Amino acid sequence: MKDLLLFGASGSIGGSTLSVLREHSGEFALAGLAVNRSTAELEDWFAEFSPRKVAIDDLSAREAWRELHPNLAARYLLDGPAEALLDLPAHRVLNAVTGFAGLKITLEAVERGLDVALANKESLVCGGSYLLDRLTGSGSHLLPVDSEHAALFQLLEGRDPDTIDRLILTASGGPFRKLPAGDWSSITPEQALRHPTWNMGPRITIDSATLFNKGLEVIEAALLFAVPEERIDVLVHPQSQVHALVALKDGSTLAQMASPDMRLPIHQALAWPEKAVGGYGRNDFGKHFEMSFEPVDNDRFPSLGLARQCLRQGGTSSLALNAADEVAVAAFLEGRLDFPGIFQTVKAVLDAGGFSAAGSWNDLLAADQRARTLAAEHISASSGRAKKEADA
Ligand SMILES: NC(=O)c1ccc[n+]([C@@H]2O[C@H](COP(=O)([O-])OP(=O)(O)OC[C@H]3O[C@@H](n4cnc5c(N)ncnc54)[C@H](OP(=O)(O)O)[C@@H]3O)[C@@H](O)[C@H]2O)c1
Repeated sequence: MKDLLLFGASGSIGGSTLSVLREHSGEFALAGLAVNRSTAELEDWFAEFSPRKVAIDDLSAREAWRELHPNLAARYLLDGPAEALLDLPAHRVLNAVTGFAGLKITLEAVERGLDVALANKESLVCGGSYLLDRLTGSGSHLLPVDSEHAALFQLLEGRDPDTIDRLILTASGGPFRKLPAGDWSSITPEQALRHPTWNMGPRITIDSATLFNKGLEVIEAALLFAVPEERIDVLVHPQSQVHALVALKDGSTLAQMASPDMRLPIHQALAWPEKAVGGYGRNDFGKHFEMSFEPVDNDRFPSLGLARQCLRQGGTSSLALNAADEVAVAAFLEGRLDFPGIFQTVKAVLDAGGFSAAGSWNDLLAADQRARTLAAEHISASSGRAKKEADA
């Protein structure tokens, strides 16, 4: 039985993880869980999974829950932020927190030598070489939960790196794959939140529509598999059945296929180094089945080019890309920025430069804060300009 600490239990990946735990209760136990501020289901989870502790990161939500459930809180609630959960003995962490907030959890788990099933791609994107340096010699393993990276992990495991030519990530292309860029300024958050193949949290869904998610994933793949960006390709594959491919030097290409179901990579990451036995995502070849692949339109979607630029530039530029995108996506969802504004904001922050490498956690925090401030300034300046034009 493996004891698991689940961060981000109330999110989309968190829900899929609980479903894996429910169906494989003989293999994994929920030792503890953390949320930011969603506490509505905590009582149910205590009844079903009997975790030993819960952490509620947001102080006001923590105190509100303590007041509402004094007996449960006295027994189970940890004082302190989400990372407090890491003091419990456990075999594995699953980090399903969204955004930069996930990095601290991964860093602290690595410091304790724990294996991390990593859905939070921002840990690698923002932590970069600072995280990788700490991983070396820690005894921890980063086990990818992102479906493309889990697929690559499976395709590459036990394979001689000298036989590999290129890594290929697939992208659904998002809901605006065919929409001319001229129509993009009228895209609403509701339209952008309608992903054609996956059901995910709001930030990653918008990132899938802009392809910034794929940009983050190119960065994640380059760091996780130590492959330079020029040997990582992206292919649009609208059916989301093939998650990644590995082109070998002999000319052949290996592909990993499964129907879109995040429980498969979650189960694989929880089971590693054993092989998962669950059957999640099994393709039904008894039905008519078609697949297509096409190149990315990099003119309409500059996101991948910006991510590649960050990988070439190094330092904290990938962290800045992530921070600018987080701020821009939040502004778009709140109706303060139009869809093309997400690309413009990220580009403006990257154009500002000044991304020297981080030597400490405080450097990472400061770089993240600076990029967020630059992004917020860009957004308010552009909304000020748009208002003036509308008033004129
Ligand atoms: N969804 C997918 O299918 C998918 C696929 C591949 C990779 N990923 C990656 O997985 C991560 C999670 O994505 P998601 O779609 O599951 O996001 P989501 O539905 O928005 O859920 C995010 C979770 O993170 C929690 N959280 C946020 N800040 C926190 C903090 N400071 N401390 C503790 N918990 C915190 C949230 O808690 P509250 O509810 O309390 O706010 C929530 O449980 C992202 O990095 C995403 O890129 C997701």
